Amino acid sequence: MKSRKPPQQAAREGLGQIVQMHLNTAWQRPVGKHSVIAFNDIRSRVETSGAPLILDSCCGTGESTCYLAAAFPQALVLGVDKSAHRLARHGSARRENYVLLRADVNDFWRLALAAGWQLFRHYLLYPNPYPKASGFRKRWYGSPALPTLLNLGGELIVRTNWQVYAEECVLALESAGYQADYRLLFDEPLMSAFETKYRARGDRLFEVYSNLNVGEK
Ligand SMILES: C[S@@+](CC[C@H](N)C(=O)[O-])C[C@H]1O[C@@H](n2cnc3c(N)ncnc32)[C@H](O)[C@@H]1O
Repeated sequence: MKSRKPPQQAAREGLGQIVQMHLNTAWQRPVGKHSVIAFNDIRSRVETSGAPLILDSCCGTGESTCYLAAAFPQALVLGVDKSAHRLARHGSARRENYVLLRADVNDFWRLALAAGWQLFRHYLLYPNPYPKASGFRKRWYGSPALPTLLNLGGELIVRTNWQVYAEECVLALESAGYQADYRLLFDEPLMSAFETKYRARGDRLFEVYSNLNVGEK
């Protein structure tokens, strides 16, 4: 019988060392072709629009992308997800100031940074938590993608229904030289499909905030 490992109960010991190791190591993973195509498709619109750029990374069905586009009508909002299946479930709203793209954000972030993009805001809503202790390096703040995420700048907003994720995210950001905090969400408007699902089943929801324009670069 398979033994099921329990979820991690508290912030990982040695988190700061892992973060520092990622900050001091160049990441060699090749960029995927399909991400390059998605990036090139949108690049000129982003670079000619002059609008503040919001990235909704791992946007799933893109409900949050549509929500953010309405909330920030002056901005251009890019929703990026690797799942064609999820993106295909997006409704038929007029996409005046938002675009949904299929790409791996591990690649998309590096392409955006190499092109000199700087974000106004960066949303990461309910990213996969990988809750077993062994999943730490798959969480965005524990992964080699962290330096790129940080260097894209902007106000970073991460939401999760797992408190350990919020705590670790704050610790990782602090370890990288940024101020960060998290808070419990109460009855803020629902932004995304997972948020709606988690709220409906009574989960506690947490939001991490950090202004990445202030701190280490
Ligand atoms: C739990 S869902 C949350 C979706 C959405 N943000 C929401 O709140 O409804 C996590 C999403 O992350 C996407 N994802 C995971 N790893 C990704 C990656 N490397 N690049 C792009 N999307 C990714 C998955 O396809 C999935 O849609």
